[in-house]
Amino acid sequence: MKAAIFTILAFFALSAQAHFRLLYPEPRGPFVADREPLFCGGYDNATTNRTTFPLSNGFFRIRQGHADWAGSVLISVAPNPSTFDDFASGGENQFARLWANESKTGNFCIPLDLSSTGIAGVADGANVTIQVVLTGGDGQLYQCADLTLSSTFTVPADLQATCVNQTADDHSSHGSNSTNSTTGGSSAGSGSLGNVEQRPLIAALAVGVFGALLGLL
Ligand SMILES: *[C@@H]1O[C@H](CO)[C@@H](O)[C@H](O)[C@H]1NC(C)=O
Ligand SMILES: *[C@@H]1O[C@H](CO)[C@@H](O)[C@H](O)[C@H]1NC(C)=O
Ligand SMILES: *[C@@H]1O[C@H](CO)[C@@H](O)[C@H](O)[C@H]1NC(C)=O
Ligand SMILES: *[C@@H]1O[C@H](CO)[C@@H](O)[C@H](O)[C@H]1NC(C)=O
Ligand SMILES: *[C@@H]1O[C@H](CO)[C@@H](O)[C@H](O)[C@H]1NC(C)=O
Ligand SMILES: *[C@@H]1O[C@H](CO)[C@@H](O)[C@H](O)[C@H]1NC(C)=O
Ligand SMILES: *[C@@H]1O[C@H](CO)[C@@H](O)[C@H](O)[C@H]1NC(C)=O
Repeated sequence: MKAAIFTILAFFALSAQAHFRLLYPEPRGPFVADREPLFCGGYDNATTNRTTFPLSNGFFRIRQGHADWAGSVLISVAPNPSTFDDFASGGENQFARLWANESKTGNFCIPLDLSSTGIAGVADGANVTIQVVLTGGDGQLYQCADLTLSSTFTVPADLQATCVNQTADDHSSHGSNSTNSTTGGSSAGSGSLGNVEQRPLIAALAVGVFGALLGLL
């Protein structure tokens, strides 16, 4: 029964952190879960203390608490992008990158090579804003970061060291160590794309919760 209670707690802990966090570069303002469905997570105006960001070979990091999600990155070269139109060009969303869909939760570090986007104005010294867009069970969620691009800047070693993927692909909680791998853990062979094993897992978990609740009542 203790194990069942732990399962319930783990289940609700997972649900409570279903929104995603942009860990790097730093978002426009403190995270407010209720406002994440809004443009730039509820922050309409550019910050004045922009993050210096490498024009080539950059990356961004997120923490995602919801299984089965997809993400992409929009970019604006406007000085103060404050509407979705500022992240579009000719009526089309202006993507810095389209992102492969993921089935797992965890920490992800995703390469973001802005120099390869070919978007006018994405250049050394330019002020740009990226908007990470994430779809995964809670509708569309948004976080923005205001950047100044540099062709000479390299990400400091301590930040670089945080660029690892840590997926929570089993729910055995602490102790599991799948650092560096999106393909490790219990789902070897399924790769990072199109893995639907998570659904039966969640379903099984839900059945376990209800079963345990019945047992308690
Ligand atoms: C954000 O910018 C708009 C104009 O672009 C301005 O009206 C508004 O006051 C600004 N908000 C804050 C909090 O500075
Ligand atoms: C970029 O933004 C900073 C901070 O708002 C500002 O001081 C600087 O003049 C801007 N640079 C350019 C090239 O617009
Ligand atoms: C910008 O300044 C605010 C207020 O001091 C601070 O909380 C935030 O961490 C700074 N952001 C960056 C990217 O340096
Ligand atoms: C990836 O996710 C998006 C948004 O949920 C969806 O529209 C698209 O069909 C998915 N692509 C694949 C290959 O699963
Ligand atoms: C993390 O996983 C994503 C795919 O979800 C991949 O694009 C990225 O390269 C991985 N990062 C590292 C540091 O392995
Ligand atoms: C996980 O693996 C990394 C890299 O091998 C190691 O540095 C870290 O201490 C491990 N963490 C745990 C909890 O075993
Ligand atoms: C992570 O990758 C590094 C090098 O790619 C390797 O030396 C290390 O053992 C890996 N750690 C784990 C936990 O797989």
